[in-house]
Amino acid sequence: MTTRIRWLGHAAMALDTAGSKILIDPFFTGNPKAVIRAAEAEADFILISHGHGDHVGDSVEIAKRTGATVISNYEIACWLEQKGLTKVHGQQHGGGFNHPFGRVKLTLAFHGSALPDGSNGGNPCGFLIYLKDGKKIYHAADTGLFGDMRLIGEEGIDLAILPIGDNYTMGPDDSIRAIKLIQPKQVIPIHYDTFPIIAQDAQAWAARVKAETSAQAIVLQPGQEITL
Ligand code: NI
Ligand code: MN
Repeated sequence: MTTRIRWLGHAAMALDTAGSKILIDPFFTGNPKAVIRAAEAEADFILISHGHGDHVGDSVEIAKRTGATVISNYEIACWLEQKGLTKVHGQQHGGGFNHPFGRVKLTLAFHGSALPDGSNGGNPCGFLIYLKDGKKIYHAADTGLFGDMRLIGEEGIDLAILPIGDNYTMGPDDSIRAIKLIQPKQVIPIHYDTFPIIAQDAQAWAARVKAETSAQAIVLQPGQEITL
């Protein structure tokens, strides 16, 4: 079984696994790095890490058009129901659920989560995704460094997807410390270069990952994909 993982710019990823199409944090409208329009997005499931506009993004429109089930924290799931979505699945931190494409567990994330209209978006999360073939992906979403990333790493992470943009999330220095805690086989940087305030040199970051950790850094351009 192979899983295709495509970076769609910012924190947005598309996963194609076990016959399901999954979008994570589908922010296309207003995203200068977006490689597709919301109207083109395909999804069976949408995962939303927190309430900020650059992560909720176009989720409501895409879910209404595609009929995708949206997975997020309980507060955001309730907010999505108020927006007219019926196929929502609320979870909370530390809780996992066996979805048709694999298991999803919500992890801690240190960040905010207010929704675009000011509603309470609960607490922000990352995602630990257990694929059907046993491989594990950790999408950290927006977070600072925290020591319990070591516990996530104890599960044996094949691919970590980590922010490196600084200012709103971890920057390059703390992302290196995160990689040392998580010890993933591979790591993809996200949440950088979308806006000038989070500009980073991803190639310099990749050189540091190679020199200072045992992980393989994979720097994608928006629209590029890997298979796992
Ligand atoms: Ni955010
Ligand atoms: Mn963000």
